[in-house]
Order: sequence, then C-alpha cells, then structure tokens
Amino acid sequence: MSAKIIDGKALAARIKHELAEKVKAEGIKCTLAVVIVGDDPASRVYVNGKKSDCAEIGIESRELALPKETTQDELLKLINDLNHDDSVDGILVQLPLPKHINEEVIINNISPLKDVDAFHPTNVGKIMIGNYNFLPCTPAGVLDLIDETGTDLTGKHCVVVGRSNIVGKPQAMLLLHKNATVTICHSKTTNLKEVCRQADVLVVAVGRAEMIDAEYIKPGAVVIDVGMNRLEDGRLVGDVDFASANEVAGYITPVPGGVGPMTRATLMRNVIKAKNLN
Ligand code: GUN
Repeated sequence: MSAKIIDGKALAARIKHELAEKVKAEGIKCTLAVVIVGDDPASRVYVNGKKSDCAEIGIESRELALPKETTQDELLKLINDLNHDDSVDGILVQLPLPKHINEEVIINNISPLKDVDAFHPTNVGKIMIGNYNFLPCTPAGVLDLIDETGTDLTGKHCVVVGRSNIVGKPQAMLLLHKNATVTICHSKTTNLKEVCRQADVLVVAVGRAEMIDAEYIKPGAVVIDVGMNRLEDGRLVGDVDFASANEVAGYITPVPGGVGPMTRATLMRNVIKAKNLN
C-alpha cells in the first residue's frame, strides 16, 4: 500500500493566503531586507522565491546583491546599517556565503530582533528554552506538516537524522516542546537503520541523496524529507528514497513540494512578527 502524501505546497499556499489576508485587514507594512553575496545559482533561486512570497503577501522586499569579492568588513558594515535602519523589519543573509567570509561572525552581528531566520545565538537559545520570538523556519514548517497528518506528538518517538544548527538541533527542540521523545542521529550513529525503524515520526535532514529507504522505516510511520539534492541527470530528489519509502510509510512528504515551501511560509510569518518587535 502507498503512503499518503503530505502536500507542503498546498499547505504553504493556504498559510500564505491567510498571511496576505492579515496584512491587508490590519494594514501591516513591513519590509524584509534580503542580502545575497556572489552568484551561486541555487541561492539566486531561493532569494527569488522569497521575494516572490513577499510580493504575494504584501510584504516589501529589498534585495541587496553584493559581488562575490565583497569583504567580511564590507558585509558587516551593511548588516550594521540594516540593523539601524528603521524602515527594515527583517534581515535575511542568504547562505552559503563565499568561503572568505565567516558565516558565524555575520549571523552574530544581525540584530536578534531582525533575525527572521532565527540563526542568531540569542534566538537559538530562546528556541531551546521554548520562549521564542522567531520560529526556526524549516523545523516549524516540519511541525506544521506533521500536524496535517493529525498525529498527536505526545509520547511519540521522533527520530531526527541530521544535527545541523539550522535543522537537526532546532527540530529536536520543537519536537521536545510537543512532548515527543526525541532521538537525534548523525553520520556516526551506530545501527542507524535500527534506530530509524523505531520512529513513529522520522525527520531526515542529512544532505545525502536517497539515503533512507524502506528498510529504515517502521510501517505506518510519518516520514518528513528535508533533503534537496540535484542528481547528475538533473533530477531533484530528497534524502529519502521516495519510491521505496512510499511502500512502507503511513505519510510522506514529496521532494519538491514538501518541506521547501513550508520553510518559506514560516519565514513570511517571522517577517510579520518582526514588525512588532522593532
Ligand atoms: N540557505 C539555505 N537555506 C537557508 C535558509 O533557510 N536561510 C538562509 N539565510 N540561507 C539559507
């Protein structure tokens, strides 16, 4: 039997529609500054997507595109200007940055009140405590997708594969706040297959194309695929082998059209939230 598909594109469209209604009804005027350094094609696609979401909702976006030779000090100067610019509510610096720029230094210099990615250590700490201004975009989108299945996370075993600062770690915290029992796995986990197979909810964010197949999945489990990998033949696939996992899972997200659109929808929520913080 095939799993039920969790349609992230449709859910994100619904959320964005609600946000657009709110912006219109309440006359909210807010601005997102999007900073992109260099000409990474994937980053360009992501930035264009975020700008188009802003336009759809009625949020102003201001793109600041800098050449790849931009120095760290020049970028810090721009961040500082944006921090002090009252016409800017949210700041997003598209990652990755060119190698000569230290991403951690840049993130640490974004005002936590404008940090709509929730990457600043202050916001990461708030997520850990469970009293946050900004939701971590991808992990919050994943929670909404799980919610769509009607799953009550209380007491459920959730396994997160991946321990990145952007997804794995904040994901584990959000699941914990929902009263789940959480296991974080990573590349050095022994018996990964066996651990994954215990999961009622499996969230995969490892960055390895089609690594997780049916053998890693408990029959009926909810499987959320955060991965986005471009194969040599041009196909876009997740970290989960969809065809195989689909035979065993109860619910599964597609790639594309699963987590990606939900990450962007949460970002839009955060920009509107930022308006009230600044
Ligand atoms: N690069 C890949 N994902 C993200 C994200 O969520 N935010 C930013 N700023 N850069 C990214």
